[in-house]
Parts: sequence; structure tokens; C-alpha cells
Amino acid sequence: MVKVLVATEKPFAAVAVSQIKEIIEKAGFEFALLEKYVGQEPFIEAAKTAHAIIIRSDLATKEVLDAAKELKIIVRAGAGYDNIDLKAATENNIVAMNTPGQNSNAVAELALGMMVYQARNQFNGKDGKELRGKTLGIHAYGNVGKYVAKIAQGFGMKVLAFDPFVKKEAIEADGVQAVDTVEELYKLSNYVSLHIPATEKTKKSIDFNLLNLMPKGATLVNTARKEVIHEDDLLKLMETRADFAYLSDIAPGCAAEFEAKFAGRYYFTPKKMGAQTAEANINAGVAAANQIVAFFKNGVITFKVN
Ligand code: 3PG
Repeated sequence: MVKVLVATEKPFAAVAVSQIKEIIEKAGFEFALLEKYVGQEPFIEAAKTAHAIIIRSDLATKEVLDAAKELKIIVRAGAGYDNIDLKAATENNIVAMNTPGQNSNAVAELALGMMVYQARNQFNGKDGKELRGKTLGIHAYGNVGKYVAKIAQGFGMKVLAFDPFVKKEAIEADGVQAVDTVEELYKLSNYVSLHIPATEKTKKSIDFNLLNLMPKGATLVNTARKEVIHEDDLLKLMETRADFAYLSDIAPGCAAEFEAKFAGRYYFTPKKMGAQTAEANINAGVAAANQIVAFFKNGVITFKVN
């Protein structure tokens, strides 16, 4: 019998787990659950007998994938699959997939939520600012970027986007101004919201020179990956520009320095929580379960990423 393991160090909402279980069992497969595990050992052990695995930001390393001798498919219930060693998956004939778009609205709502929080001085009682009339630059116009644009337009913000992989006309059809260069985006935006994936090319690409183009009183919002930030440059920028704020879904490696020096000018979630809503967990988890069933029953490989 096909055994489907849900391995989530940060668990899905209980309602999502029960829906995933129902789909797996209705298909005649076995359902196994590993939640809140500590270290890689429990994951490696559980992976050994699984034919399919559903993960979130869990690290599907070469060690895990080499040990998973029965494994045919691994699905990242979410967008970013930088946590899967794709080379090791391919070497082991394992199909890797993601579930694009399923948790995007949750991430977008958090981006705007953090912006409001910062604009209102972290709700400390002092006078703040409004988002209306400010310019928001969306760096990468994918599923999350689109939702961010729509919500920001509701706030009355002017929305710009830079994405060399999306046609200008498609961006402008959403009432968003497409800019030609990344420098232009940063130069024109009071807020920049990051939605680029973490790849060898993008890691550490958000550096001092780019951020320093932003106007006075600017805020960078990162609900993408901490790895895309050049942290030494970010620290330098925070030191030289007392007007600059940084909001991030998950703390950077240099969080202690922020705590010591930049009180009131940053906010970091205690745990990555952009996709941590019941709705997003249901959407992504159910999509992952359905993709696994379709893979085993009909050989469907839509959303394969390796
Ligand atoms: C994603 O890439 O889909 C988001 O970063 C969500 O990650 P999570 O499922 O670990 O919360």
C-alpha cells in the first residue's frame, strides 16, 4: 500500500491535517504523520518507509532523500522549494513538486499587515503614517506579488512592479505600473515588498547600493526568504540611515544587532508565519494530497520542479 507521510516541523492547522488524511485514505493509501520533530533524525527515520512525503519548510536534504528508499514523490505544500535538494531528488528518481499559489493570499495579507504595524509606530500610541498615497514597489510579480498589489490598491497606494519574467502588459492589466529596472523600482518606492525566490543568483542580491536608492523614510518588507538579503549591507544601511525600517517574516541571522541598535525600526516574526493560516494550510495541504493521489493513480506530474 502507498504510504504518504506528512512531515511538518511546524504543523499544519489541525483542520488541514484531517482533510489531507481524508484524501489519502479515500484513495486507499496509508496516512502517517510526523509533527514538531526536533533535528533531522526523526524525519530521516520516518522517510525510510514512505512512498510519498508532504513537507512545508522542512529540509529535504540529500541525507533524507538517500535514506528514503521507497520514495517516489515529495511535495512541498507551498511555493518556495529551496528546502528540497533537487539534485538528490533527481538522482534518486524522486519527483519533487510544489503547490504554487495556494498560500499566496496569506503571505500577502501578512506583508500589508506588517506595513500597517510599522506605519503606526508598532501601535505604541504615538502618531503614525497612512499607507494611502504612498508608493509600493513589488519586487517579483508572481502569485504573492499579485495579491499584494490588489490589497495595496485597496489601501489607496500607488503600486509599481519589477519582474523581468512577466510581460509588462500582464502587470499593467492589473493597474500596476511595470518598471524597466530593479534600480528604478527601489528609487521610486516608499515601500518595497520582496517576492523573489532564493536561488544561487538571488541570494544576498538585496544589497546596500540597491536599498540606498530608496527615498527617505523607506521600509523594506521581506516575506520571501532571509537568504536574499545581504545582511552585512543591511546592517550598514540601518546604521547610516536612521530613517530606514526593515520588516521580515522570520528574523535575519543578525537579529541580535537589530535588537541592540535599531529598536522601533524593525519587526521580525518569531517563526515564519506568512502561510500560517488555517485557509493557507488547507489550500496547500489539500493541493499536495491531491497531487500525490493524481501522481500515483494517473501519472500526473503537473507542478514537477525537478
Ligand atoms: C512558502 O514558500 O510557501 C512559504 O514560505 C511558506 O512556508 P511554510 O509552509 O514553511 O510556512
